[in-house]
Amino acid sequence: MVSSATFSAMKRVLAIETSCDETAVAVVELHQSLIINHQSIVVLSSIVSSQIDIHKITGGVVPEVAARAHVEAIIPVIAEAVKRAGITKEEIDAIVTTTQPGLRPALVVGETAGWALAAAWNKPFVPVHHIAGHIAAAWLSSEKETIIHKFPATVLVVSGGHTQLFQLNEKLEMKLLGQTRDDAAGEAFDKIARLLELPYPGGPELAKLALQGYGKAFDFPRPMFNSEDLDFSFSGLKTSVYYAIRDKKLSLQEKADVAASAQNAIVDILIQKTLKAVQQEGAQEVIIAGGVAANTKLRETMKTALGDTQFIVPPIKYCTDNAAMIGAAALLGIEMPA
Ligand code: KG4
Ligand code: ZN
Repeated sequence: MVSSATFSAMKRVLAIETSCDETAVAVVELHQSLIINHQSIVVLSSIVSSQIDIHKITGGVVPEVAARAHVEAIIPVIAEAVKRAGITKEEIDAIVTTTQPGLRPALVVGETAGWALAAAWNKPFVPVHHIAGHIAAAWLSSEKETIIHKFPATVLVVSGGHTQLFQLNEKLEMKLLGQTRDDAAGEAFDKIARLLELPYPGGPELAKLALQGYGKAFDFPRPMFNSEDLDFSFSGLKTSVYYAIRDKKLSLQEKADVAASAQNAIVDILIQKTLKAVQQEGAQEVIIAGGVAANTKLRETMKTALGDTQFIVPPIKYCTDNAAMIGAAALLGIEMPA
């Protein structure tokens, strides 16, 4: 097993991600241009087999059910990723796999497949932290544009389990600036969606419903909005939504108004803290990463709020869980701070 930071020779990797409810495999390669600090990751293939239909039945992810679905999908998904990339095993330098954090029974499936493939193909096995992967998604190039990153950068990670602000320097080393003290932003989306009886997955469903709602209909609180630190809190917001709608038979329009108002509150908090981090650290760029970065309201409002500060957000398909980002983290050597 090698750490990505000590294995600089790799240029092209096969990556596996099974930390939650997507079985994902990708082949990605590192492109280093002559421009200083300019590296990008080209995606040769990225296959994501979603388990949404399975988890819709239970309204959430049951870890053992997810693990069984990964077992069924992993080999065909690996085969498809290799085929679509149009490469042979000799052209792969390492097998990269998400090893933490995530649902343990689900992670084990990807890890076992990764180790087996590494042994069979005689390649190094490189473990990657899932959140490092989300951040590395900001280097996945979409042929049309070349992203030249500016440092220091402020990184906002917003996923189902994490809400964190990091400072990233030109060596791609990270420093934690702040994080949630209770629920993650994605969790807030999911829990409020559940209160509104929306189907799984809650976040995108709530965002869809919010499109038809009036975002100022409810004045939900923005916990820790003006606190001195760069920490977050979302559990009070969820509780306020609960009290605002409990025992009420809401019309579809009222539900949409709640969704839009709650989404506004979450987005406001995320933007306020990101702007504070940019100012405090003198950041030249902002990156947003993780499933909630797929949220259109957040993407658009953040872009406007940042003005001239460079704003990088991965294409939507690389914000939610995928394996291309996991391979990218290994190739770039992005690791979580100790
Ligand atoms: O990064 P991710 O795919 O998985 C984790 O690492 O957790 O993030 C999943 C989270 C879920 O909470 C999901 O509801 C949320 O991201 N999410 C969204 C949207 N798409 C995914 N939340 C709001 N709006 C979206 N469009
Ligand atoms: Zn994720």
